[in-house]
Amino acid sequence: MARLAGKVAIVTGAAKGLGAADARLFAAEGANVIVTDVDITAGEALAAEIGGQFRRLDVRHEAEWQALVAAVMAEHGRLDILVNNAGVVEVGSPESITEDSYRFVMAVSLDGTVWGCKHAIPAMRAGGGGSIINMASIASIQGEPYVAAYCAAKGGIEAYTRAVAVHCAQGRMNIRCNSVHPSGIDTPMVRSMPDKVAEAALPTLGDQGQGAGLNRLGEPNDIAHMVVYLASDESRFVSGQAFVIDNTASITEGIVPGGRGNSASGD
Ligand SMILES: NC(=O)c1ccc[n+]([C@@H]2O[C@H](COP(=O)([O-])OP(=O)(O)OC[C@H]3O[C@@H](n4cnc5c(N)ncnc54)[C@H](O)[C@@H]3O)[C@@H](O)[C@H]2O)c1
Repeated sequence: MARLAGKVAIVTGAAKGLGAADARLFAAEGANVIVTDVDITAGEALAAEIGGQFRRLDVRHEAEWQALVAAVMAEHGRLDILVNNAGVVEVGSPESITEDSYRFVMAVSLDGTVWGCKHAIPAMRAGGGGSIINMASIASIQGEPYVAAYCAAKGGIEAYTRAVAVHCAQGRMNIRCNSVHPSGIDTPMVRSMPDKVAEAALPTLGDQGQGAGLNRLGEPNDIAHMVVYLASDESRFVSGQAFVIDNTASITEGIVPGGRGNSASGD
């Protein structure tokens, strides 16, 4: 029996990377997937591939969320799963951070998650419950000073996840909310990091800059399998939790420019 049979799911930032892997596995498990992204070409192609539906959504704008959830409810009559996956990263330390890059990172990652939860909760409640999965990062638990705004956004997502989970539990809504904290997964975002760091003239991240995981990069499905579990009824007693998937990166040296094994470390 498919683990998500009959469920309606929205995945944000689903055209590429981790979101695309979530969408593919959701469809394989029987979900009706609404692929959303600002990248229309890639989003439409993925929706066609998995037999889902594409809708353009820029997660930064609450009005677009309102319209999306209303359209999904009008067409499908229910919403069971939301993956707040869209996120962006900009290089900047606590001293070199700029107002524009800070606001951009916060708007996509944190604001997008806030608006997604706000509009998904009533829709899910109307259908008897649901599951919200927020994509955070080990940047919420590990200092990564070269992407300071990203750390702030992901820390906000982790804390906000608990607030949403408790709100839904206290309201007996049967809606769960959990955060997932990856690192070192082979996606366009991770592949873009060495160039971004070089442009910002920060110390090289070396191999660790590929996203840690001390021996290799992970694959998008390494995260998507956890997301499917959290989306399914198998995790019905799991809410308000943070799930780290990083092959030890956050409990070893992680992504630290100048760290051990890096020529700039001096040790
Ligand atoms: N890849 C990793 O190792 C890793 C590690 C930690 C956290 N994450 C998080 O996982 C999520 C996905 O990461 P990824 O590596 O797949 O990134 P990615 O850059 O490869 O893909 C992100 C997708 O989000 C879309 N997007 C960007 N801005 C958007 C907006 N305003 N509205 C809607 N969609 C938008 C992009 O078009 C793209 O399709 C992000 O939240 C990221 O921070 C990834």
